Amino acid sequence: MEEDGKFLIQGFGGRRIIDGEIRVNGAKNDALPGLAAALLFRDGLRLSNVPALKDIDGMLELLSGLGVGWSRAKPREYQLVTTKLSAAKLKPEIAKRLRGSMLLTAPLLARLGEATFPHPGGCVIGARPIDIFLEGFQAMGVKLHKGEKIYRLRVPSGRLRGARIFLKNVSVTATEAFLLAGALAHGETVIENAALEPEVTHLAQFLRRAGLRVRGIGTTRLSVVGAKSLSGLDLNYRVIPDRIETGSFLILGALAAKRLVVRGVVPEHNRAVVEMLRRAGARLEVGRDSIVVQAPSAGQSYLPLEVKTHEFPGFPTDLQAPLTVLLTQAVGESTVFETIFEGRLLHLHTLREMGANVVVHDPHRATVVGPTPLRGRHVYSPDLRAGLAYILAAVVAEGESVVHNAHYVERGYERVAERLQTLGVKIVKE
Ligand code: EPU
Repeated sequence: MEEDGKFLIQGFGGRRIIDGEIRVNGAKNDALPGLAAALLFRDGLRLSNVPALKDIDGMLELLSGLGVGWSRAKPREYQLVTTKLSAAKLKPEIAKRLRGSMLLTAPLLARLGEATFPHPGGCVIGARPIDIFLEGFQAMGVKLHKGEKIYRLRVPSGRLRGARIFLKNVSVTATEAFLLAGALAHGETVIENAALEPEVTHLAQFLRRAGLRVRGIGTTRLSVVGAKSLSGLDLNYRVIPDRIETGSFLILGALAAKRLVVRGVVPEHNRAVVEMLRRAGARLEVGRDSIVVQAPSAGQSYLPLEVKTHEFPGFPTDLQAPLTVLLTQAVGESTVFETIFEGRLLHLHTLREMGANVVVHDPHRATVVGPTPLRGRHVYSPDLRAGLAYILAAVVAEGESVVHNAHYVERGYERVAERLQTLGVKIVKE
């Protein structure tokens, strides 16, 4: 079994002990497109509020391999120099583990007219095809050669051309990739059925600040008119707060807090999770840039939920696994309908081993009947979000748990053990 670090957690056995404050970091899924956007500029770009995560290190290593220079001016602040791109090939050993690497292909095609990369991996949460990217790029004038393990894309005319691209599935990174490709394409690129996630909106706003004509921001029809060349010298890409980290902490608070203040958030980005937790009986107060959460008052139980994951502004798939831990504590039957990925209910089998009453009907649907006390165990994270769910389950459980494969959790949650310790959670990383 794969192993790279583990978390040792002493459970509270359902007691509400957490009392404190936690600050949310910059969003991984906003920093990744920001790093890719740097490649568009003929000179360079500054990024700030970048979280210290393994996926970010991986992306920086990919950028170095392309000839990008970078330095860290201060913690969380990077200066990228993109004057000399020397290669159009993504290091396969990194790219195949990092789904976000697909974001680099678009600016490479735009700047160098070529991109070579392996099928990108990432967390094991489903098939994760790249057909939408390939079809969209082809509509923009790209020729595709697919080898056994590698894709080679080329722009025979030398410059991408704007196209009208309808996404057959709403895809976050594909929307971002076409915005990036369109930024240097000839003419207008129109993306229909575009994703509405805050990270997409932020990227679109950033491109507008870079001087491009971007329309339809905040709608499902986004368009961008490309420029011949762009300068990033006067720009700063400030990564937005991580809404998934926010939601994860709110769920932790709903499960185990007397009072938890989650700071540095954009409440508008967290409407779905706040609504869901209120329905479950938790108490939440939404401020301007903070949210206070408390578990239901003494004597009140959690109510069951109907959870259906959805593209933004619906309930995010990335919070589905953490939320199921709360469902194990609700009185009655909850249903889970994971609509985005087909490999994201695997954690439920592990929750069952910890004592949950779960029936998984098919790769998308499950029923959770509660309340059931959870027991500490040795568990193995299959992916980042499930790993966080196991930490939450271990906090709620009676006794000690060991969450193996800490490296998965650390792809998306920075120094999670240290930060949870400050709230009174008994967790150490080994
Ligand atoms: N899809 C296709 N073809 C494609 C691309 C996507 O059929 O070419 C399908 C997927 O199979 C899926 C649906 O479209 O069923 C939506 O997937 P999407 O492309 O939106 O996912 P993604 O862009 O690869 C991003 C986040 C994920 C998050 C999803 C959904 C980044 C780097 N990753 O992935 O984050 O789960 O959107 O919101 O932004 C995570 O952080 O743990 C994580 C997995």
